Amino acid sequence: MSSLLVDNIGELVTNSVGAGDGGPLGLRHDAAVLVEDGLVAWVGPARDAPAADRRIDAEGAAVLPGFVDSHAHLVFAGDRAAEFAARMAGEPYTGGGIRTTVGATRAASDDELRATVRRLRAEAMRQGTTTIEIKSGYGLTVADEARSLRIAAEFTEDTTFLGAHVVPAEYADRPDDYVGLVCGPMLAAAAPYARWIDVFCERGAFDVDHARAILACGQAVGLGVRVHANQLGPGPGVRLGVELGAASVDHCTHLTDADVDALSGSPTVATLLPGAEFSTRSPYPDARRLLDAGVTVALATDCNPGSSYTSSMPFCVALAVREMRMTPAEAVWAATAGGAAALRRSDVGRLARGARADLMILDAPSYLHLAYRPGVPLIRQVLRNGVPQCR
Ligand code: NIG
Ligand code: FE
Repeated sequence: MSSLLVDNIGELVTNSVGAGDGGPLGLRHDAAVLVEDGLVAWVGPARDAPAADRRIDAEGAAVLPGFVDSHAHLVFAGDRAAEFAARMAGEPYTGGGIRTTVGATRAASDDELRATVRRLRAEAMRQGTTTIEIKSGYGLTVADEARSLRIAAEFTEDTTFLGAHVVPAEYADRPDDYVGLVCGPMLAAAAPYARWIDVFCERGAFDVDHARAILACGQAVGLGVRVHANQLGPGPGVRLGVELGAASVDHCTHLTDADVDALSGSPTVATLLPGAEFSTRSPYPDARRLLDAGVTVALATDCNPGSSYTSSMPFCVALAVREMRMTPAEAVWAATAGGAAALRRSDVGRLARGARADLMILDAPSYLHLAYRPGVPLIRQVLRNGVPQCR
């Protein structure tokens, strides 16, 4: 059994209740972390650190759990830069461009799709992401959804079947038939590669009855529920997610008091995706309202070629602090422990004995710098399962 000591940590974010000087981040100062067999074996004051086979000197920098990006659409081909430019010139975002990406994705080879997922996952990792959820949703045929998930499963345990992203053009005049396809042969082909099922419940995508039917079919074969909800306008998506015991409802941009009340009394996480509001020039979700109501909030990138083509969790943290009035501590918690809660995982998003040794060493003395120095590459080194990742 080989051991590794990450030593001389100026500020350690543990996200562990009762750790160090407490607070939601469980901050410790002058700390060390011992890693054995890819797991955290010990956390404590640097002066008490046990001996280890190898040592990484953090040189007084801040160390955090790796980011948990609980919402990403990485299996696609092509990009939609022209659509972005048109939006910046005043065009609205409607989700209509999804079909453009569906066409490009269907035409791509497995290896082309795989290369894109590999590139984006590596890009995310360089920015501190050690756990990432990956959705299908740009195939929308039985074969293309199944291969999207098969490829996603090569890169992550958290794969999500999003066959109900939009109704594809060939079913435009018979959406009931498409819902039947999603619940029948498509789900059967996708389920062996999926942990989760998701639906885009929104005007122009799937209404609440279709969404409920699809999510219930997924639950019946053992998939956990997540929902794209209340992104473009108010609607029933958030309450549907809560009703079905979803792990997370995502976007939450347009919420009523009833939505917030439903969330605050439930274990469902509200995942906010400020990269989408940035890239669609939309109003940001009201994070303070959710936090003040006691809702668990996560932050994720929504990385996709249409509404949010960023893989950067530090960018999302900075947006959440500047534009959504989250404190830096709330934003960092939401991007790490919050993401883990949204994926119902207790092995990531925290640094305590028994957790996975997924961590990042910053080129900065404090986690505060993630919001204070936006756009600066502050991630010096990333360890995943205790293994230093190549830059
Ligand atoms: O989460 N809203 C639905 N799906 C994606 C956008 C997909 C696209 O525009 O290609 C989202 O924002
Ligand atoms: Fe999304």
